[in-house]
Amino acid sequence: RVSARLYHEKVIDHYERPRNVGSLDKNDISVGSGLVGAPACGDVMKLMIKVDDNGIISDVKFKTFGCGSAIASSSYMTERVKGLSLEEAGAIKNTEIAQELCLPPVKLHCSMLAEDAIKAAINDYRKKKDAAGGKIGAGH
Ligand code: FES
Ligand code: FES
Repeated sequence: RVSARLYHEKVIDHYERPRNVGSLDKNDISVGSGLVGAPACGDVMKLMIKVDDNGIISDVKFKTFGCGSAIASSSYMTERVKGLSLEEAGAIKNTEIAQELCLPPVKLHCSMLAEDAIKAAINDYRKKKDAAGGKIGAGH
């Protein structure tokens, strides 16, 4: 039986009161969505970002179908990226999350899910922007 004492209290806090759970309007052109899975266990994380005109992440929501560490990692990630530029958010490493939440080695891949999810959301946002730019036909 795994004791809750194995986990750092910050994990417990993000697990018991996850921040920014939910979703954003996927039809909104300023919203990017990342859906990723962990091959190791089959857990799935969806993370959505809203980006303002200055390229700053103004809102972020997540849904995680996975273990406590994955939920805590995504909750932490949402707090971490709010107010950051896409470049800054895309540079966040899972090791930072794991360290911050004191995840044990077997739970490292749970934090990887959060890194993959924010990167996927950023890519999706950029793809959408490019597609929209193409449609307007601003000559590139
Ligand atoms: Fe994914 Fe634990 S193995 S929930
Ligand atoms: Fe697989 Fe946590 S995401 S055990």
